[in-house]
Amino acid sequence: MGASQHADTDEALEALLVFIREARGFDFTGYKRSTLSRRINKRMTDVGISSYADYQDLLETSAEEFGALFNTILINVTSFFRDPDAWTLLQREIIPELIADIAPEQEIRVWSAGCSSGEEPYSLAIMFAEALGLDECLRRVKIYATDVDEEALREARSGLYPVKALEPISLELRQKYFEQNGAQFSFHTELRRRVIFGRHDVTRDAPISRLDLLVCRNTLMYFNVEAQTQILDRFHFALRKEALLFLGKAEMLLNDAERFEVTDMRQRIFRRSAGQAGTPYQAAPLKIRASTGPEGSSVARSRLLRDLALDTGPTPSITVDAEGSLVMVNNQARIQFGLATADLGRPFQDLEISYRPLELRSLIDQAIAERRTLRVNRVERRVGEEVQYVDILIQPLAGLNGVHVATTISFSDVTVVTRLKAEVKRVREDLETAYEELQSTNEELETTNEELQSSIEELETTNEELQSTNEELETTNEELQSGNEELETMNDEMRIRSEELDEATAFLEAVLTSIAAGVVVLDSDLKVRSWNRGAVDMWGLRADEVIDQSFFGLDFGLPTEVLLPVVSECLSSRQRSGPIGVESMSRIGRPITCDVFCSPFDGHHGGVVLMMEESRTDPQD
Ligand SMILES: C[S@@+](CC[C@H](N)C(=O)[O-])C[C@H]1O[C@@H](n2cnc3c(N)ncnc32)[C@H](O)[C@@H]1O
Repeated sequence: MGASQHADTDEALEALLVFIREARGFDFTGYKRSTLSRRINKRMTDVGISSYADYQDLLETSAEEFGALFNTILINVTSFFRDPDAWTLLQREIIPELIADIAPEQEIRVWSAGCSSGEEPYSLAIMFAEALGLDECLRRVKIYATDVDEEALREARSGLYPVKALEPISLELRQKYFEQNGAQFSFHTELRRRVIFGRHDVTRDAPISRLDLLVCRNTLMYFNVEAQTQILDRFHFALRKEALLFLGKAEMLLNDAERFEVTDMRQRIFRRSAGQAGTPYQAAPLKIRASTGPEGSSVARSRLLRDLALDTGPTPSITVDAEGSLVMVNNQARIQFGLATADLGRPFQDLEISYRPLELRSLIDQAIAERRTLRVNRVERRVGEEVQYVDILIQPLAGLNGVHVATTISFSDVTVVTRLKAEVKRVREDLETAYEELQSTNEELETTNEELQSSIEELETTNEELQSTNEELETTNEELQSGNEELETMNDEMRIRSEELDEATAFLEAVLTSIAAGVVVLDSDLKVRSWNRGAVDMWGLRADEVIDQSFFGLDFGLPTEVLLPVVSECLSSRQRSGPIGVESMSRIGRPITCDVFCSPFDGHHGGVVLMMEESRTDPQD
C-alpha cells in the first residue's frame, strides 16, 4: 500500500472515530491507533466490509453493530487476582502497611478504574476483608468500581460467576466468599454492597477523590501517551498524599518521578509523592564592615592578607564602587578578561567587560536598587574558537549603616558542567524515547495477549458449541442406527412374507393350471384378471392377450353376450349360478356346448369367477 493510501486510511479512521464520538458519546480518539485499527478491522472483517467509510454507513443504520464494535474494542479480559505475584505482594506487604498508616476509625477509600466484569474490585474486597476481618472491612472499606462499558458493569453488579472464573481463588477463600447459586457462584452479599459500581470514562469524567488506593490495571495501556498523561494528572489529584497507585504489569509511569515514587517497579506499585519540588535559590545581600579610621599595623597586615586572598581566589572577580569605577580586579580576572592594574579607577562602562559577554551595567543597577544578589547562569562567552559558559554573580555590598558601597561581580566557569549536563540531557532524552518505545511495545504485547485470550475464549465457546452439536449429531446418529435396525428387521420380515406370498401365488397358479376346465376371473369392471391354462386350451387365446381387456369385448369362440345377464346378476346378488350351456366354437373350430358356472369372487375388490367346461352330455340327449 502506498503512502497516500495510508494517509487516506488514517484520515478515514479519524473520521470514523469522530463519528462514533458524536453519534454515541464514546471517545476513542485517545486510544492507541495500532490497537484501535486492529480491532476495528477485525470487526469489519467479521461483517465483510473493507473500508472505514462503508463501515460508518453500516453504523449509521445499525444500533446492534455499535454494540458489537464496542465489545470488540473494549476487550474485557480479566480474572480474579490477575497476575498472582502482584496480588501476593499486595496482600503480604502493601495492604498491611496501608492499613497501618490510616487511623483506625478512618474510612479506607479504594478505586478500581476499568474494573471490567468485577473480578478486580471483588478481589480487592476479599483482600481487605482478609486483612481487617469481615466486620471491620464492612464498616470501613469502600471500593468504587468503574468502567466505561455498561455491559461489563451489568455482569459485575450481578456478582455471579461460573465455576471456571473461580479457578484462581483458593478453595478456602471460595468457600468463605462465594455461594453456589444454580450453575453459578454468587459473591458474598454483604461484601458486595461495599463495592459501588458506576459508569466512568477515565478520559473524560471527574475522578473520585481522597483515595488511599487506586487500582487501574491493563487499561492505561490502550491509550496514547498524551491521553495517559492526562489520566495520570487526574489520578494524581484523586490520591491522598502518599496513597498508592497499582498499575498493570505492562504499564509504567512516564516522566512522573516527581509526582509518583516507585514502591515496587516489578509489580507496578507507586506512591503519590508527599512533597513539592524544591524552592528556588534566594541569596541575601552580603554586609561588610565599613572602615572606622586609621588602623594599626595588624590591621594593615590583615588587609594585605585579605587582598592577597581575594587576588588569588580561583574565580575571576572584579569590584565596582558606588561611583561606577573599577576598584578591584583579582588575578583570574586579569588573566581571563585581559584587565590590567592600570584599569583600576577607570569608569566601568568604558571597559569591554561591562557589556561582553553580558550587559552588566543594568544588572548592577538592578542589584543595587533591589538590594539583592543577582545570578545569571550559563552565559555563553567566545574565547577564540572555543565556547565558554560562565555563571555570573552580581553582589551589591553595603556598609554597616546599610549604605551601598560597591558591587562585586564574579564569574564561575561552568563549561564542563554545562557540557556534561547537555550530554546527560541528551542521554536522558534518548533513554526516555527508548523507554517509551519499550513501554509501548510492552503494552502492545499485553493488548495482543488480551486479544489472543479473548479469541481463545471465543474459540472455547465455539468449541463447546461444536461439541454439543456433535453430541446432538451422535444422538441423532444413534437414533438413525436404531431406526435402521428396525427397518432391517422389518425388511427381513417383508422378505419372508414376500417369499410366502410367492409360494402361495405359485401354489394358486399351479392349482389354476392343473384344473382342466377354463377358469377366468373378472374384476368388478368386468376386465379379465386371470386366464388359466384350461381357458387357453379351450379358446386359443393367450393370457397376455386378454389380461386387463374387457371380457365382453373379446372376440373368441364363446358368445360372451349370452353370459352378460348371468354375470351382472352374480355381481349384484353375490350368488353362484350355472351351469349355463352356451353354444360355442372351440379353438379348432369345432362346435361345442360349453357349461359355464358363474361364482362371485370374494377376493380383490370383488368380481366374478367363470368356470367353463365342454358339456359331457351329448347335444342329441
Ligand atoms: C483489559 S480490561 C482490564 C480489567 C481489569 N482492570 C484487569 O486488569 O483485569 C480493560 C477495561 O478497561 C475498560 N476501559 C476501556 N476504556 C475505558 C475508559 N475510557 N474509561 C474506563 N474504562 C475503560 C474496558 O471496558 C475494559 O473493561
